[in-house]
Amino acid sequence: MSERLHKIIAASGLMSRRQAEEMIRLGRVKVDGRVAGLGESAEPGEVEIRVDDQVIGAMASGVTVMLNKPVGYICTMNDPSGRRLVSELLPPELGRLYPIGRLDFNTEGLLLLTNDGALAQHLMHPRHHVSKTYLVKVRGQLDGHKRQALETGVLLDDGPTHQARVAAVRAHGRNCWFELTLHEGRNRQVRRMCEALGLGVVRLKRIAVGDLTLGELPRGAWRKLTAAELNRLR
Ligand code: URA
Repeated sequence: MSERLHKIIAASGLMSRRQAEEMIRLGRVKVDGRVAGLGESAEPGEVEIRVDDQVIGAMASGVTVMLNKPVGYICTMNDPSGRRLVSELLPPELGRLYPIGRLDFNTEGLLLLTNDGALAQHLMHPRHHVSKTYLVKVRGQLDGHKRQALETGVLLDDGPTHQARVAAVRAHGRNCWFELTLHEGRNRQVRRMCEALGLGVVRLKRIAVGDLTLGELPRGAWRKLTAAELNRLR
C-alpha cells in the first residue's frame, strides 16, 4: 500500500514527520534517484528513498550504543554555529548513528544512539512510557512541598507534568542533589520543572533509560549494548 513519503521517513525513526516534510521541501529527499516532491506517496520497500545520503529502510542491521555524553556537546547531526557534536565521540567504523532523543548542550550522561529505526521509534513513542532517571544538582533545598510538586505535577507552559519519582535526596551546603525519574520526555523538562519551583539546575546527568543504567562508563566513552539489554529495551 502506498504511503506518504514524510510518513515513511518518520517511521524509520530518523526524524519527525514535520522534519521529513521540510527535507522534502528543501529537495533533500530522493526516490529512486529523483528529487521527491511535497505530498508525494511511495510504496515502502518498493523504492529506494534517500535523505541526503542516508538510505531509509536500510537501517535494520542494528548497531546501538550507549554514550556517556559530556557537557558541551550537542545531539544534532550538524551545527551551523560549530559546536561539538556527539557523533564526533564515536569512531567512523560504527557508521552513521542517530541519537534516540536529545540531551541539552549542558546535560551529560546516558545517551543512546542507533541505526535501528524501529528501536528508536519504540523508545521515543510517548505510549511506551520508557522511564528516564536523572541525577540533579540544584541551587536551593528540596523541601517536602517542592518534592511533592515534582512527584505529582508541576504546571509548565505546555501543561502539567505527569507523575514522577524523587529519590536519594541529599542536601549539600546551599545545594541539593536528588534523583528524578520521568515517564515523559518534553523539551528541557527537568530544568523547566526545577526552575518553576525556584530551583536553578547546577548539574544534570541522565543515569538510566528504562532499566538500562550508565554504570561506570567514563565520561565521553561509549559501548555497544548487549543482546540482552536490547531485548529488554524492546
Ligand atoms: N531535561 C532537561 O532539562 N534537559 C535534558 O537534557 C534532559 C531532560
